[in-house]
Amino acid sequence: MKKENKSTTKVNVLVGSKQTELDNRSQLLKLMQTSPIPDSEVLMNLGLFLKRQDLSRILFMNELYQKQVGVHGSIFEFGVRWGQNLALFETMRGIYEPYNYNRKIVGFDTFEGFPSVDKKDGVNPIIKKGSYDVVKGYENYLSQILQCLENENPIAHIKTTHLVKGDASKSIKTYLKEHPETIISMAYFDFDIYTPTKECLLAIKPHLTKGSVIGFDELNFQAFPGETIAVQEVLGLSSYKSQRSPFGVLQSYIVFE
Ligand SMILES: C[S@@+](CC[C@H](N)C(=O)[O-])C[C@H]1O[C@@H](n2cnc3c(N)ncnc32)[C@H](O)[C@@H]1O
Repeated sequence: MKKENKSTTKVNVLVGSKQTELDNRSQLLKLMQTSPIPDSEVLMNLGLFLKRQDLSRILFMNELYQKQVGVHGSIFEFGVRWGQNLALFETMRGIYEPYNYNRKIVGFDTFEGFPSVDKKDGVNPIIKKGSYDVVKGYENYLSQILQCLENENPIAHIKTTHLVKGDASKSIKTYLKEHPETIISMAYFDFDIYTPTKECLLAIKPHLTKGSVIGFDELNFQAFPGETIAVQEVLGLSSYKSQRSPFGVLQSYIVFE
């Protein structure tokens, strides 16, 4: 992948922080970039730079992962972006079920941001084609990271992580046609928008089993109404208990019964 100047890479994302927080984060970032830690010890000291919010998110994913360990099937993430969740799920697989090579971890993304938006997605300025894009060719870089993490786990010769590039409203149907054996133990929805959330929910429904965990990143969140509307239309909000964890403010999940 061509090296980009990260400080000038233009990406359109929603940022809800105040200036003092942004300044503090700039300082922490600068300290990370100028770290005196030798290369041989950098990877084992990443916790130095984990803020409360970021560690909480990791702990939330850990909670979800544990909830689905006893359910047979694969993990799907809808909306991958830089891929941290996929990386965490692969590492958690190595911790909680190191010999379960049957647990595929599959991520769906355009890797070009929102392909389109719907009226139901509302009027926030972030709601436009191309928001949440990543740098060109990023999926190749992410694949290499995921392979390194797989190599740290047992039975590494059986590939468990997979990236599916393209508009997931279409690619989910192709994937499930090509993999009719699929059972989904956990799906994490983080598209933020209506159409792919609705289409993917409809597509995966026949592949869920009792106990499947479905996580959502933005339910009841004003900036992204489309995610809630899609859930309401496909599953019905009163049909499942919408559950939360102290580790997530916006995140929630249901257990499919
Ligand atoms: C908020 S980001 C995901 C963040 C990521 N889950 C994380 O935790 O860092 C939303 C992602 O959904 C993707 N996306 C939105 N609509 C899509 C669609 N129809 N098909 C595939 N990807 C889509 C965007 O490209 C973007 O990467």
